[in-house]
Amino acid sequence: MARIQYILTFLLFALVCNAMALIRRAPTPGQLEQVTDFGDNPTDVGFYIYVPENLASNPAIIVAIHYCTGTAQAYYTGSPYAQYAETHGFIVIYPESPYEGGCWDVSSESTLTHNGGGNSNSIANMVTWTTAQYNADSSRVYVTGTSSGAMMTNVMAATYPNLFAAGIVYAGVPAGCFYSDTNQENGWNSTCAQGEVISTPEHWGDIARAMDAGYNGTRPKMQIYHGSVDATLYPQNYYETCKQWSDVFGYTYDSPQEVQSDTPLADWDKTIWGESLQGILANGVTHNIQIQGEEDLKWFGFTS
Ligand SMILES: *[C@@H]1O[C@H](CO)[C@@H](O)[C@H](O)[C@H]1NC(C)=O
Ligand SMILES: *[C@@H]1O[C@H](CO)[C@@H](O)[C@H](O)[C@H]1NC(C)=O
Repeated sequence: MARIQYILTFLLFALVCNAMALIRRAPTPGQLEQVTDFGDNPTDVGFYIYVPENLASNPAIIVAIHYCTGTAQAYYTGSPYAQYAETHGFIVIYPESPYEGGCWDVSSESTLTHNGGGNSNSIANMVTWTTAQYNADSSRVYVTGTSSGAMMTNVMAATYPNLFAAGIVYAGVPAGCFYSDTNQENGWNSTCAQGEVISTPEHWGDIARAMDAGYNGTRPKMQIYHGSVDATLYPQNYYETCKQWSDVFGYTYDSPQEVQSDTPLADWDKTIWGESLQGILANGVTHNIQIQGEEDLKWFGFTS
C-alpha cells in the first residue's frame, strides 16, 4: 500500500515538473521573449521571438535582423513587424549578434557557407526550431534587415535559399562583399563598404551560388532598398546587389523589365527585373533609410 502511494506521489511530482518545464519553455505570446534552447548555436547568436496573441494556425515567420550597435529589443521596438504580427498572425524571430559592437558576421568562411557553423547557421536553426514548435508554414518564411542586418539578409538568402520565400534588404551589401581575406569573423570590409568592390553580375551570382553549392531549388525573391546618398555603405552596393540577384534569377541586369519613378515614395525609383527581383533607389536618402512596412507586407504576400 505504502509503496503504491509512494509511486503515485512520485508520478504526480514528475508530471508537475514536466508541466512546469513546459510552461517555462513556451514563450509568452504578445511580448518579446528569449529562447535559449533551440538546437545547435555554434556562434552563440541570441534568439528572441515574438509570438502574437493572435497567432494564426500554420503561421508564417518573419526573421528581422538588426543593424550594428542594435539589439533584438531595439529592432523589435524600432521596426513595425511585431505590430503587424498581431494583425496577420505571423511569428517574428529577432536574432541578436553575439559580438561587441553588435554587427553580424558576414565575412567569415563559416557564415558564408550553408551549414558552415557561423551566424547564418544559428539563424537557420532558429527558423527550423520555430517551424517545428509552432507548426509554421515552411513555404512562408521571410527574412529582412537593416544595414548589417541587410547584409545578413543577403547572406541568409544565399546560404539558405531552401528556407526562405522572400527577402527585403534595407541598405546592405551583396552576399560575400564583406568577405574577409584573413577569414575574420565579424570583420569590417571598408573596400566593400565604400563601394569599391565592383564586379559583373556573373561573378556576384557565382559567389551567391557557391554559398549553397549544388542547390537547384527555388530561391527567395528579393527586394533591395538603398539610399542614394548613403555614406556608410555607399550606394554602389545597391547596384552590385541588384547585379548579384539578377544573375541568380537569370535576368539581364542591363535590361530590367520596368522602372517606376516615385514608387513607393516621391523620389524613390523602383526597378523591376522580374517577379523575383525589385530594387528601390531612394534618391536623397542617407544610410538611415526607413522601413516601408506596408510595402514589406505586400512583398511577403500578407496583403496585395
Ligand atoms: C573585402 O572584400 C573583398 C571582396 O568583396 C575582398 O576581395 C577583399 O580582400 C576584402 N578585404 C579584406 C581586408 O578582407
Ligand atoms: C537538383 O538536385 C537534386 C539533388 O541533387 C537532383 O536529384 C535533381 O535532379 C536536380 N534537378 C535539376 C533540375 O538539376
